[in-house]
Amino acid sequence: MTRALGVCYYPEHWPEDQWPRDAARMAEMGLRYVRIGEFSWSRIEPQQLNWGWLDRAFDVLADAGLQIVLGTPTATPPRWMLDKPPDMLAWDAEGRPRAFGSRRHYCFSHAGYKEECARIVTLMADRYGRHPALAMWQTDNEYGCHDTVLSYSPAARTAFQAWLARRYGDIDALNAAWGNVFWSMVYDSFDQIGLPNLTVTEPNPAHVMDFRRFSSDQVVDFNRLQVEIIRARSDAPISHNYMGRVTEFDHFDVGADMEVATWDSYPLGFMDEGRGKATEAMKREYARQGDPDFQAFHHDLYRAVGHGRAWVMEQQPGPVNWAPHNPAPLPGMVRLWTWEAFAHGAEAVCYFRWRQAPFAQEQNHAGLLRPDDAPAAGFAEAEAVAKELRDAPEVSAGQAPVALIFDYQAEWMWETQPQGQGLRYFDLAYQTYKALRRLGLSIDIVPVSHTDFASYAAVFAPGLAHVSADLAAELRCCPGTVVMGPRTGALTADFAIPATLPPDIAGFGVTVARVETIRADTPRALQGGGAATLWVETLEGGGDVLLACDDGAPVAVECGGGRIYVGAWLDAAGQDRMLRLALAESGLPLLDLPEGLRVRETETERFWINYGAQPVQFAGREIGAADVLREGVEVAV
Ligand code: GAL
Repeated sequence: MTRALGVCYYPEHWPEDQWPRDAARMAEMGLRYVRIGEFSWSRIEPQQLNWGWLDRAFDVLADAGLQIVLGTPTATPPRWMLDKPPDMLAWDAEGRPRAFGSRRHYCFSHAGYKEECARIVTLMADRYGRHPALAMWQTDNEYGCHDTVLSYSPAARTAFQAWLARRYGDIDALNAAWGNVFWSMVYDSFDQIGLPNLTVTEPNPAHVMDFRRFSSDQVVDFNRLQVEIIRARSDAPISHNYMGRVTEFDHFDVGADMEVATWDSYPLGFMDEGRGKATEAMKREYARQGDPDFQAFHHDLYRAVGHGRAWVMEQQPGPVNWAPHNPAPLPGMVRLWTWEAFAHGAEAVCYFRWRQAPFAQEQNHAGLLRPDDAPAAGFAEAEAVAKELRDAPEVSAGQAPVALIFDYQAEWMWETQPQGQGLRYFDLAYQTYKALRRLGLSIDIVPVSHTDFASYAAVFAPGLAHVSADLAAELRCCPGTVVMGPRTGALTADFAIPATLPPDIAGFGVTVARVETIRADTPRALQGGGAATLWVETLEGGGDVLLACDDGAPVAVECGGGRIYVGAWLDAAGQDRMLRLALAESGLPLLDLPEGLRVRETETERFWINYGAQPVQFAGREIGAADVLREGVEVAV
């Protein structure tokens, strides 16, 4: 795999005589890719089709030697569209239609809007699908951005009823699966079923869970419609640009239809918005660098979503406009984020955006260029990476020694019934990821459908509320350590407590007899250090006790055959102890990395990545502030 840089460009924002100068400058600084088109529908079709400007933009960029990523424009239907199917807007949970005047103002379930999308994508793919400069497609833009997956519109309600009828066949099966005898919620027919909003108190969790599955499937179908049209007209790979911590749809399901996964990385905005739940102290310390694990987590996640092929489609190049605070990155960070993406297997990193727009919503969002065309601070760092890439060898991300299972349905289950304030599956999975990284481990994130666990020294599945029989069978083939819990195998697929009590997984001879959720400020100390917090299970059975509370209550138990069940949410110290115990016999070298320093290996390189604002010494090397050190590693033969 080679590595390359690119940029997001909006020719429709600039006078046409500027395009050749822009293209020449992009090529000169060493960019290979340019993404265009994703918000251009009102220019492509201002009532009448008008492809001329886009044809010319293709020519100008191609003449400069650039390769094009073409976005379908369906995230921004033009205003006139609303006069055709006026009911195409998504509705919020309060039952209000969302308005025109920004973007993503459509409901995934609206058949009429989907027809319009199919029409414009067909025309676009017919026109550019075989263009020699076309390198890749991007469908739509950031599904889920601005909270746009769950729609409570009449179109969604009708589609949900049809989805339920397909899933259950007859209404009695649905009533039984949901437990509708409780509170007399029994339905006589599918067309009586509403969406799970505006109920007097909490709706049935099984109802909510099916609505979440349905809503995710609507995104999959919407995307697939475009993929099938493009695929019939183009050989270029197809991708979508995902986001940081968006969990409203199953990215693995959407990604299954496409060749490449890309994502949009805004490290400073993400941390300040609280997406990785950084503490206030951390937010202060890393305000200009970002959370040292958040980007890595998503690189690893999207490498899996893209079947090994991932890009960063939008990389923050300077201050953004949308977080509570929008500082400039520390000098070095734009280069660091770029190399970090490559260290995690990214094939390309594209900066958002070429030139800062002097108008509209994002006028205070930096680009590589200032609005007056002078280079902004990020320009020189992008240029420096482009120079470094000229001599960089071909690489392969390779396989990591440990796997972390990540599951969107588990997130929906926790969200549907968290059993305590603010308890989220994403946080539990992410904290496990962080703790593994502090030990210096490279990690593969894998979906529940993964089938080859045999090559991992250890597999972690915290919080996987439902474990399918297929996954349990796959994990039985894993000769390494398998660590599950808390709340793993705690629910059936129908959102009920399993008959034999959790964890409902063969091979784990332990029973969760009771669950408590406790306040973060009343942790339960563990014997030997660390604490159980937030979620605490009472465990019965199991084998050797690895970790116990001060009162002797078991917290982590060895269940035989390298199976470990952890019955609590652990604080950082407890998590570190648990991981070291679980990995003690794995043969993996476990480091104790200083705050801010991370390490990531590809098949042939080791990258030391210092998110700290000061240089750091580690194992005989010094890594500069906001700097990356690349070393060759011996290739195993
Ligand atoms: C992304 C989006 C871009 C732009 C950017 C600003 O979420 O895809 O279009 O809005 O954020 O940071």
